[in-house]
Amino acid sequence: MSILVVYASTHGHTAEIAARVSEALGDGDLRDVASAHGLELSDYDTVIIGASIHVGQYQKELVEWCERRADVLNAMPSAFFSVCLTAADDSEESREATAAYLADFKARTGWTPRLQATFAGALQYREYDFATRLLMRLLMKHQDRPTDAGRDYDFTDWPAVDEFARSCAALPAGAASV
Ligand SMILES: Cc1cc2nc3c(=O)[nH]c(=O)nc-3n(C[C@H](O)[C@H](O)[C@H](O)COP(=O)(O)O)c2cc1C
Repeated sequence: MSILVVYASTHGHTAEIAARVSEALGDGDLRDVASAHGLELSDYDTVIIGASIHVGQYQKELVEWCERRADVLNAMPSAFFSVCLTAADDSEESREATAAYLADFKARTGWTPRLQATFAGALQYREYDFATRLLMRLLMKHQDRPTDAGRDYDFTDWPAVDEFARSCAALPAGAASV
């Protein structure tokens, strides 16, 4: 089974999740979206795509990549995973924001993945530049989250990532029936 995993990652955490998914599937073809422009999706049985939220938006390059390929993606086994920090929070406001990111993505791209998942991301203070670190510490203080910029914080449920990978592998082959 030939699986393509394409991701966009600003600070590296979505890249780690994508690598974990790819590895769980027995080494899929793992690509940063920047290196995925020339690929033929028909060369793959299943395509899995992941992106993270920054200031309410997924990475533009990945959104456009999906938008251009929506027809092909809709016609084959495909899955999307979203990475954000609101998913680490169980308040109604955060749940609504998390769901809205996915809904906006599907409306914008015209792609309806057969499988979708949201994973809580990470606070990677050590990866951020000065301004981003300052901004994130202020935001996190406001949200009662960790502000010690001397370390990173991983909120991802890794067993859930493995479970998502297994579900992707079990997607039925061929065109969608709906
Ligand atoms: C500048 C910045 C803005 C962010 N904005 C949001 C946001 O609007 N909503 C959200 O849920 N998470 C937000 N996040 C959290 C990221 O989605 C999270 O850190 C994720 O793990 C980043 O993945 P990446 O390392 O692949 O870029 C933001 C993170 C940063 C650094």
